[in-house]
Amino acid sequence: MTVLNKPASLKAIELENKYGAHNYHPLPVVLNKGEGVFVWDVEGERYYDFLSAYSAVNQGHCHPKIIDAMVKQAQTLTLTSRAFYNDVLGAYEKYATELFGFDKLLPMNTGAEAVETALKIARKWAYEVKGIAENKAEIVVCKNNFHGRTTTIVSFSNDPDAKKNFGPYTTGFVKIDYNNIDALREKLENNKNIAAFLVEPIQGEAGVYVPDEGYLAEAKALCEKYNVLFIADEVQTGIARTGRLLATCGNCKCVNKNCSGTPETKPDILILGKALSGGAYPISAVLANDSIMNVIKPGNHGSTFGGNPIAAAVAVAALKVVEEEGLANNADRLGIIFREELESFIKEHSLVKAVRGKGLLNAIIINDTEDSTTAWDICLKLRDNGLLAKPTHGNIIRFAPPLVINETQLRDCISIIKKTITNFKK
Ligand SMILES: Cc1ncc(COP(=O)(O)O)c(C=O)c1O
Repeated sequence: MTVLNKPASLKAIELENKYGAHNYHPLPVVLNKGEGVFVWDVEGERYYDFLSAYSAVNQGHCHPKIIDAMVKQAQTLTLTSRAFYNDVLGAYEKYATELFGFDKLLPMNTGAEAVETALKIARKWAYEVKGIAENKAEIVVCKNNFHGRTTTIVSFSNDPDAKKNFGPYTTGFVKIDYNNIDALREKLENNKNIAAFLVEPIQGEAGVYVPDEGYLAEAKALCEKYNVLFIADEVQTGIARTGRLLATCGNCKCVNKNCSGTPETKPDILILGKALSGGAYPISAVLANDSIMNVIKPGNHGSTFGGNPIAAAVAVAALKVVEEEGLANNADRLGIIFREELESFIKEHSLVKAVRGKGLLNAIIINDTEDSTTAWDICLKLRDNGLLAKPTHGNIIRFAPPLVINETQLRDCISIIKKTITNFKK
């Protein structure tokens, strides 16, 4: 059944199209309920969610413990602003800093805000600690990055949709190839004004590009050598998504443990968002040790909603769910099954060129041109078969279910994907 035969869905789509800005191109499906790995449309049809709100809903839709914490806090105290103390924020900061292994946390709301925060901290650190001359600090970023949508962040994007006609752009960023350690070495060796290297441990939006084994550790070592801050944007990869609590846990054998990464890959500044709330509330955070975070003084940075009591209560509940339910372990184990199954399947099916990913952040690459609609058309068929996913860029489809998915459900989803691809006709 296509969405056009669904009057209630059609009505909701028409309203959004007429009264909302067209800044997204949603798959035509209108949802009104979610539970665990499932979402339902307004006509009552059930789907597996294989996007998880871009990896925000790692703990599954409407997790009862997270919702309970949110409701209880909402009935008690919602917002004080940081003009006053509240009795929840400190406890959250203690919990999260101990879990991730940093001295301090700066609370924000969205991923982009947290990235902006990290950039500001890095610049201030560069002037006040490293000793770079005023306004000369530069930050190394990677081509095909995705760090959000603010004016500064799109200034160092190379996605024309995100960038074109939003200038003049913020300066002070140098772009290098992702997963190219020589390019980073060359920049750091030859430029004394580099404050930081900002990197996604896996480039998610770009199409789930997993760097070579050892890349992050080598990047961190180079940063250390040249007194440059290693900033990991784990907004999408963090909170168990890639089979570790953090993707920068690198090669250590920490599955199912509270691990903030081996010393080889542990960032100087860690950026978190999305699943920090399990998708229940906009919560982001920047974590760093005192030698870095202490450059931030009253008046330098903030947000009315950052660190509000609801966010603090929700974040603690969401992080506890990840630990209690062993979600990193589950993502690691099921991710291996997912890739093995699809890898052997695509040997027989020319429509898919490759499958790649880590944990439950995976993608398939469709055998068609980047500007073709094939990936989108496959997603429409997946929807009709009860599974929701979306293309990232062009011919790449990302698969990122909630991490509470079990093996039976995953195998059911693999069957849906195989059936859809087998029956797909252009
Ligand atoms: C790596 C990364 N950083 C930052 C962001 C921006 O987060 P938000 O959309 O919450 O601003 C995203 C969002 O997809 C992301 O994947």
